[in-house]
Amino acid sequence: MKLFTVLSGEHPTLPAAEVRAILEAESMPYREVEEFPCLLKFEASRKALEAVKLRAAYSRLCGMEIFSCKAEAGEILERCRETSFEDFISPGESFAVRVRRICGAEKVEKPLELEREIGAMIWRRVKGVKVDLKRPEKLFIGLTLKNGDFLFGVSLWQIPFKDFSARKPARKPFSHPSTLQPKFARCMVNLSRVKRGGVLYDPFCGAGTILVEAGLIGVKPLGGDLQTGMVMGARENLLHYRAGSPLLMVADALHPPVRLVDAIATDPPYGRSASTAGRRFEELLEGFLNASAEILSDGGFLCMASPLEAGVPAMAESLGFKTVEKHAIHIHRSLTRLVVVLRLK
Ligand SMILES: C[S@@+](CC[C@H](N)C(=O)[O-])C[C@H]1O[C@@H](n2cnc3c(N)ncnc32)[C@H](O)[C@@H]1O
Repeated sequence: MKLFTVLSGEHPTLPAAEVRAILEAESMPYREVEEFPCLLKFEASRKALEAVKLRAAYSRLCGMEIFSCKAEAGEILERCRETSFEDFISPGESFAVRVRRICGAEKVEKPLELEREIGAMIWRRVKGVKVDLKRPEKLFIGLTLKNGDFLFGVSLWQIPFKDFSARKPARKPFSHPSTLQPKFARCMVNLSRVKRGGVLYDPFCGAGTILVEAGLIGVKPLGGDLQTGMVMGARENLLHYRAGSPLLMVADALHPPVRLVDAIATDPPYGRSASTAGRRFEELLEGFLNASAEILSDGGFLCMASPLEAGVPAMAESLGFKTVEKHAIHIHRSLTRLVVVLRLK
């Protein structure tokens, strides 16, 4: 199937990387067709789409492509005339047509008129369908892209915004100044390429944000922290969000009392809002990476966040890891966070 995902503009590279990592994690064969700002086109099965729907944090809408052409009304209407809409909507179903631009693309001329003309065409051609602008059963969507192209398709799902906002740090039963945003934590889980049913270990779990996001998609969360208060807080959060049975321990990430985990996703303390318990950050990092190399199962990935200047990729590579991908995120004037995905060489 020709599919597309509308990506969040929250970061230039993480959203598309997350979709690719999900497809890899779930062993879904796919062929990437093209990447645009805020849009990824790929060919895969409907099952692959289900995985993206269940897991992604930075995808907003996913759909099936009907056609692509230049973002010019005459050409768009011509392509619509050639389309067999009955392949995409059945008699009796309700529908709406929406035309939007994404990520700073030029607007198509008179988008509302275009929506109406396409809607009228569908209504005339497929008997018994009805327009419902509020809650359509089928949403046809036209997107103008940055390069002047237009993609027309049918939406298969949209992410309800509320899903993540209910887990923002301020709304969690337990949080701390170092608590991550849930979307970012979910993205880290996905980048670690852990399968549903696999075990994800967060050795610096804090309030358990990464573990909650892992548990909610059917990954088994396993966590540790040096502070008892954090472990208790993480347990409270995992139970509150029904994110799987919490397997948590008070433990030093440099001496993990666990063996063979499928993936690691973590956010070590940099000594700013979270304490390193008196260790230098470099010492903590080296000890943690060495310990991770011992417990990561064959082919397993490690996804971690750290300040850019900490130089994690170089240190990890000197310890036998390979850098699979990295993404820099500007947080504020004095912090650029680097998300790094590692695998043992
Ligand atoms: C940046 S915070 C993690 C925040 C977490 N990702 C969240 O969203 O809540 C880092 C955590 O590492 C813990 N920590 C510091 N040194 C540790 C060590 N050697 N082993 C395990 N945990 C440690 C701190 O107590 C702190 O809770």
